[in-house]
Amino acid sequence: MESLNEEIIGKALDYVRELFRTNAGGHDADHTLRVYRNTLLIAKEEPDCDLQVAALAALLHDADDHKLFHTENNANARAFLEANGLSPERIERICEAINSVSFSRNKGKRPCTPEGRVVQDADRLDAMGAIGVARAFAYGGEHGRPMSETVLHFHDKLLRLRDLMNTEAGRRIAERRHSFLERFLEEYYEETSGV
Ligand code: ADP
Ligand code: NI
Repeated sequence: MESLNEEIIGKALDYVRELFRTNAGGHDADHTLRVYRNTLLIAKEEPDCDLQVAALAALLHDADDHKLFHTENNANARAFLEANGLSPERIERICEAINSVSFSRNKGKRPCTPEGRVVQDADRLDAMGAIGVARAFAYGGEHGRPMSETVLHFHDKLLRLRDLMNTEAGRRIAERRHSFLERFLEEYYEETSGV
């Protein structure tokens, strides 16, 4: 596996910290850092995955999220990548990977590149397990929703993610996080039943 260009990764880390400075909750810079870390873990086991493309796609995957920024055509990601001298060909590959991550944008279609598949798994893992529970309630709170409504999101979305993983490593980590979600719900229903 090729090694990462640490300098540009460091700059991308600084860039996203600044970009998400004002965002608390589900989409802060820490989410991006976790997705980046998951990406490295998964990519290790995917020989066809270009590590540099996947790492930068992970770090920039929410940089043009429409819920947060009013940009078109990956403008934030492109501005960063151009300023750091990446070739047009690599910029396209990174943007293609970023754009294939979102479920709703792609109507459930699997990403067609190895980098897209890796980053999609990495992003979905962050909606599962203990961190997934924390993010779901943070999201519900932010939107003024009662907890009972957030629990529905577990069934609508979070418990389905395990079976949507693209990679072996993703499936392995998802298995553990899925069990935790089930265990959490069991306890939650037990503790809240009859009230
Ligand atoms: P991303 O863009 O990172 O893939 P989303 O914007 O879909 O993720 O969601 C961000 C976080 O908020 C996730 O952890 C997700 O589970 C949570 N979330 C999204 N929609 C809801 C909802 N209706 N209720 C509770 N949590 C939600
Ligand atoms: Ni994300």
